[in-house]
Amino acid sequence: MKYGYFDDAALEYVITTPKTPLPWINYLGNKEFFSLISNTCGGYTFYKDAKLLRLTRYRYNNVPYDNNGKYFFIKDGDTVWNPGWQPVKTALDSYECRHGLGYSTFTASKKDIQTRVLTFVPMEDNCEVSKVTITNNRSTDAEIQLFSYVEWCLWNADDDMKNFQRNLSTGEVEVTGGGSVIYHKTEYRERRNHYAIYGVNTAVDGFDTSRDAFLGAYNGPDSPDAVAAGACTNSIASGWSPIAAHQINVKLAAGESKTFIFTLGYIENPEDQKWEAPSVVNKKPAEAMLAKYQDEASVDKALEELKAYWKDLLSIYHVKSSNEKVDRMVNIWNQYQCMVTFNMSRSASYYESGIGRGMGFRDSCQDLLGFVHLIPDRARQRIIDIASTQFQDGSAYHQYQPLTKKGNSDIGSGFNDDPLWLIAGTNAYVRETGDVSILDEIVPFDNDMSVAQPLMEHLKRSFDYIVNHKGPHKLPLIGRADWNDCLNLNCHSTQPGESFQTFGPSEGPVAESVFIGGMFVKYGREYADLCKLQGKNDEAERALKEVAEMEKVLLSDAGWDGKWFVRAYDSYGNKVGGAECEEGQIYIEPQGFCVLAGVGKETGQAQKALDSVKAKLDTKYGVMILQPAYTVYHEELGEVSSYPPGYKENAGIFCHNNPWVSIAETVIGRGDRAFEVYKKTCPAYTEEISEIHRTEPYIYCQMVAGADAKFHGEGKNSWLTGTAAWTFVNISQYILGVYPTLKGLSVDPCVPADFGDFSVKRIYRGVEYDITVKQNGVQKGVKQLIVDGTEVEGTVIPYDASKKTVKVEVIMG
Ligand code: BGC
Ligand code: NOJ
Repeated sequence: MKYGYFDDAALEYVITTPKTPLPWINYLGNKEFFSLISNTCGGYTFYKDAKLLRLTRYRYNNVPYDNNGKYFFIKDGDTVWNPGWQPVKTALDSYECRHGLGYSTFTASKKDIQTRVLTFVPMEDNCEVSKVTITNNRSTDAEIQLFSYVEWCLWNADDDMKNFQRNLSTGEVEVTGGGSVIYHKTEYRERRNHYAIYGVNTAVDGFDTSRDAFLGAYNGPDSPDAVAAGACTNSIASGWSPIAAHQINVKLAAGESKTFIFTLGYIENPEDQKWEAPSVVNKKPAEAMLAKYQDEASVDKALEELKAYWKDLLSIYHVKSSNEKVDRMVNIWNQYQCMVTFNMSRSASYYESGIGRGMGFRDSCQDLLGFVHLIPDRARQRIIDIASTQFQDGSAYHQYQPLTKKGNSDIGSGFNDDPLWLIAGTNAYVRETGDVSILDEIVPFDNDMSVAQPLMEHLKRSFDYIVNHKGPHKLPLIGRADWNDCLNLNCHSTQPGESFQTFGPSEGPVAESVFIGGMFVKYGREYADLCKLQGKNDEAERALKEVAEMEKVLLSDAGWDGKWFVRAYDSYGNKVGGAECEEGQIYIEPQGFCVLAGVGKETGQAQKALDSVKAKLDTKYGVMILQPAYTVYHEELGEVSSYPPGYKENAGIFCHNNPWVSIAETVIGRGDRAFEVYKKTCPAYTEEISEIHRTEPYIYCQMVAGADAKFHGEGKNSWLTGTAAWTFVNISQYILGVYPTLKGLSVDPCVPADFGDFSVKRIYRGVEYDITVKQNGVQKGVKQLIVDGTEVEGTVIPYDASKKTVKVEVIMG
């Protein structure tokens, strides 16, 4: 069952009922000012850091779900309704929400009054602009009222929901223009130099800044007193909960429309220019911001700029195939989600509260893989930021805060896969851009410039961290966990509430990870490639020797269980993920990653491992992370066994490593199977079963409940997941096969036999490649590569910076 449809031409998903199974959200903002907005206008806004600089309040875990947002109310006689249905939930005569790239629109009507709300964050300003158009479709005049409402967060979202003894006394506001512009200035009198504004481009008939005055102390936003009464009280908040609400009385002749523009903004003043008079904030920059969005034309222009920005970005990789679902995911939504995960890491979604994890080291490195082609300069800066949180021994802070860029010492280090992801991200950047200068960039360790070294030295230490931390089987030690945060083999937690990750030692001398072994092969080779690029041939040779040794271990009884790769060894030296285990006999991660690294390709073990995946882990909704699910808690395994069977890391379908399996299938040339795996978790395909899947049909979620779960097929935790980057890498670079190498673009597709011919437009290092692929019913194999009419050996198009466009014909066979 569907709750909307894709409008590919408009680059929008159109939601046709407010009652989606879960809130279906969108992100506004591209750089530093962001909003989350649901299809019923729920959500919140922040500047740079969702924890420390939150503008508006959102109540996670609220009842009913998703009922705080930035709302408009229409009062039409005795009827009160909202363009997004929530919070009043008056039945609407029509409703449509369109989520586009960085903007959303809500069109609704009730009794022949129509509203259209367009909301977005302009490219150049730290504000969210909402254009509200009201149309009277009646044959008679209409007199209605429009109310706006936002609830301020007192900046630190964590403190805001805990520290009431202080916070109920700190709230302060100012109002200008008779209430048209409301300034939220809590804590501005002391250490903050920033405030927020909510303004409208018209004179108002009333306003409120006290929540209790507007709503009534015992009401929610579903029944504001002021709206019921048809009059705000011009309240000036002092402490308690400051809000911003405007009242506009609107007279509309038959057929007439009126438009109002609301601006919710963030303003910073220099320390010495904070005040225009004692206790009166300097409003000049706010006025300048507001002045930019006074009329429809300037709002429309700003929206056009945003659309042009996205059109440009999306022209960098564009496919045309006979499969519209693939085209819409590749050309629009998958790349859009890659941008969002790059911006947010795992901080703010409807499932990440914005106050917990900041930027993840491994997460952000992986997010880069799907983002680097879009804005390489931002990727470059991100790599430097991430590397700056690495320790001198090559290990790394697992997370850092976006505002301070400092490592988060609560969680610390000891996740032994982290170092290798830095190689992955850096290599992807250099393959995309050819910019080797990044390797010479001087980067601090743990933000300490006095011990700074070139980035390349950071990568060496990443590599050597694994070399120097091996266990009894010569496999990498796992530390607190590897990619699977829930495989906590050194933790042995027995007390509720303990962190599975940080309880116990950060290192154990025995617990090992086969998965990190697979990563070491893949990224060890990528490290060696970079060494060669820098002319460090001895170092490259040393690295490749280490890689070869690891490969041997992986293929030996230590890493190979007979039909699939072992997952790990626990702190007693017992196998995790072997046929001898009662539960958790086979795990997806080492099968996917070892094979995508090429391990076992020659020996046939690769094929066997993937056959085992199909036989033991596959379901119609995707490939499960492990089987059989753990039915009891294993203190020696940790969080993985804490989840009920079928959920999350305990036998859920973890969307993040499904593309690893799909990529692995392309590595051994099985295009049919690679695509089958791709399709199962692909939103454009799961759209058809939205009543089961429940999360947004245009976006990947982290996890789909596995076969052991009661709600098999139900998606959870949408948006902020490494799935976005990895599926984009999978479909664009491995299945469609347009892969950037250090030497130039390679084209080597691996598609289903019946995929048909397709073409890809790819802008790469400043050159536009127009690639057409004649598939000939073949799953993998390039018979001929013709570049501007000349046949070329192999699959790599020689890079020629002097060309503007290059015509590439690929004949599979
Ligand atoms: C989740 C993991 C996540 C981890 C972060 C766990 O509870 O299951 O998916 O990576 O928390 O700390
Ligand atoms: C989500 C985390 O953000 C990611 O770092 C981790 O790899 C996966 N969960 C698997 O546990």
